[in-house]
Amino acid sequence: MKTGALKTSAIETRIVGLSEGMAEALRLLDAGRPVGVPTETVYGLAADATNGDAVAAIYEAKGRPAFNPLICHVDGLAMAQGIATPDDTMLRLAEAFWPGPLTLVMPLALNPPMHLAVHPLALAGLKTVALRQPLGPLAKLAHRLGRPLAAPSANPSGGLSPTTASAVAAGLGGRIPLVLDGGASPVGVESTIIGRVDGRLTLLRPGGLAAEAIERVAGARLFRPAGEAAIAAPGMLASHYAPRAAVRIDAHDLRPGEALLAFGPHPLEGRPVAMLNLSEKGDTVEAARNLFSHLQALDEIAPSAIAVMPVPETGLGEAINDRLRRAAAPRPPSGTTG
Ligand code: TXA
Ligand code: MG
Repeated sequence: MKTGALKTSAIETRIVGLSEGMAEALRLLDAGRPVGVPTETVYGLAADATNGDAVAAIYEAKGRPAFNPLICHVDGLAMAQGIATPDDTMLRLAEAFWPGPLTLVMPLALNPPMHLAVHPLALAGLKTVALRQPLGPLAKLAHRLGRPLAAPSANPSGGLSPTTASAVAAGLGGRIPLVLDGGASPVGVESTIIGRVDGRLTLLRPGGLAAEAIERVAGARLFRPAGEAAIAAPGMLASHYAPRAAVRIDAHDLRPGEALLAFGPHPLEGRPVAMLNLSEKGDTVEAARNLFSHLQALDEIAPSAIAVMPVPETGLGEAINDRLRRAAAPRPPSGTTG
């Protein structure tokens, strides 16, 4: 409802609890329809990754450009190895962190079985595929279906990622038939994406698994692309995760009409029109969990801007700062980000 025009007339979007909704979700997914599904990171908009029409329905509902490939979600390592060819390091990382907030970009398998052949539309023409085993119902659905599920975050392209079922419905209501309600996403930011770029193990997107934890298991430092090269994941466009209000990061003062997104025990002095604290105790894990829902809540008050206090670059702070920088970046015309 917030961005983009509806091409078809609106459909009814139902929010249903997990235990009642799983069978219907499975039936819809099997029929090539997209469904909003909770994961530990954020809510995803899932569809059968092997069915081109189903994948197209994701792009259509989100208003997402088709050059931005999708993460495919699997029920475990065996399904992943049918789709892609992990090297030793990728295998170790999957064994250590799946199910969990880690996405691995790997070369496509040469001859995947039919039921695991990811449709080229989900790959945006790449010879690599981004795979993740999430925690919770999305992996269960992939397991019951026997096929991988493509799922970007369940928001209109360029907007904030949803961490509740009602946030999904607020953004995509009228465009999708069903949202499974699994409560608030415990991690709160999207998965960390790792891939190989020129042979180097590379942090393509900081996310819900701290890079330091990955480096310990990989036994190597992750390469972190800088500047323009940072758009190594095609979806990593400069402006993204944008609320309607302007976002001012690294704020050390408050200006008239601003809302304050605080961090730590000492919020900035002044009179914000509203204030929420990412983490009063200065914990980046708690801050990640609150990031998108707090931005969304402050945005609803329509402040002149959202001033955000500095967040340290350590642990999940790396992902939080990445999202905040994109939320604060100059905005392109709508419909050009994922
Ligand atoms: O936590 C998450 O990762 C959530 C949940 C639903 O799993 N999903 C998510 O998907 O954040 P999405 O589509 O919003 O972000 C996927 C990112 C994009 O930046 C995309 O460009 C990148 O993954 N990506 C997908 N396939 C890729 C590939 N083969 N090579 C490099 N980047 C890829
Ligand atoms: Mg997204």
